[in-house]
Amino acid sequence: MQKIEAIIRPGKLNEITEALADAGVLGITVSNVLGCGRQKGHTQVYRGQEVQIRLLPKVKLEIACLETQSEQIVEVITRLARTGQVGDGKIFISPVQESIRIRTGERGETAL
Ligand SMILES: Nc1ncnc2c1ncn2[C@@H]1O[C@H](COP(=O)(O)OP(=O)(O)OP(=O)(O)O)[C@@H](O)[C@H]1O
Ligand SMILES: [Mg+2]
Repeated sequence: MQKIEAIIRPGKLNEITEALADAGVLGITVSNVLGCGRQKGHTQVYRGQEVQIRLLPKVKLEIACLETQSEQIVEVITRLARTGQVGDGKIFISPVQESIRIRTGERGETAL
């Protein structure tokens, strides 16, 4: 099992979650987050003053999946999240040691 964590632009959320459901993703967690990458946010003029915005609103997707599904999930997210401009986001993949469905106590891949 693997966990895919993707930070995307908020405006891309609906299209991406629909495409992931079509690709067979069973469960997903979505959070509103603040973040910055290499540009450290950006500057904006507000009431004539230049203000440094260090953290921008982003959306974080978390998906626990079978190892065999993860490349397809990454492909869907990468293709739909990309605009080509800075700030398109990132995907991190990590191993998942265990998964437990609380209702039944099932463990492992059947609990995904
Ligand atoms: N190393 C990181 N660790 C954790 N979160 C990160 C990291 N890099 C980026 N993020 C998250 O991803 C969001 C988007 O990052 P972003 O796409 O701007 O990365 P970047 O490295 O600056 O690439 P680009 O040059 O294309 O903008 C950030 O707002 C932050 O939430
Ligand atoms: Mg950036």
